[in-house]
Amino acid sequence: MAVQINPSILSADFARLADEAKAVEGADWLHVDVMDNHFVPNLTLGTPVVESLARATDIPLDCHLMIEDPDRWAPQYVEAGAQSITFHVEAAAAPIRLAREIRAKGARAAMALKPATPIEAYEEILPELDMLLIMTVEPGFGGQSFLDVMLPKVRRTRELIDKHGLQLWLQVDGGVSASTIERCAEAGADVFVAGSAVYGAEDPAQAVRALRAQAEAATAQASWACGH
Ligand code: DX5
Ligand code: ZN
Repeated sequence: MAVQINPSILSADFARLADEAKAVEGADWLHVDVMDNHFVPNLTLGTPVVESLARATDIPLDCHLMIEDPDRWAPQYVEAGAQSITFHVEAAAAPIRLAREIRAKGARAAMALKPATPIEAYEEILPELDMLLIMTVEPGFGGQSFLDVMLPKVRRTRELIDKHGLQLWLQVDGGVSASTIERCAEAGADVFVAGSAVYGAEDPAQAVRALRAQAEAATAQASWACGH
């Protein structure tokens, strides 16, 4: 699977979201962080903003729900126009049922793990998903330092994906930048969320291209990618 770069609009100017989407032309997805001030200690946006953003850009929306009770709310984000919905397993009451519901509504279903949540308990769930998100910071804020200690989890997840022959995308989110993206790609990630590294750059579209080039080069060297 080709490398994908998903700029996170958490680091964008929320008063100019349509322009900020245009500023990352060439990005694969726009990463939209939904925070409810309960699951994480921060508050961002909800379905009205997702609806407007979906109308304002051709880039598909990758909605990362950092909210309590995703079983109840996630389907509404598909209706609002998001093509990929990520819920946190720590918050979901019935992750398999929820993933099936998201897929049945026509979106890609993804599940996220906070840093202290192990992957091993979820091996059987993986075939129900289109993407797995391994958080490389504690969710809640942009601009935090990348947690290197998550790289073994990325590696073990890639091994599980290969062991089961799955077409599952493996996303990393948090502290992904020019100085960390190669290690993520080498460990097995193929979808990269970057907030401050993209929107903090002088030219966000150029930052996307540069991150992609780095990730592609690192993937080409990675042992897990041989034969993919
Ligand atoms: C953090 C969010 C991230 C955030 C990443 O909870 O899920 O998507 O925007 O920001 P950076 O890339 O600046 O760490
Ligand atoms: Zn996110």
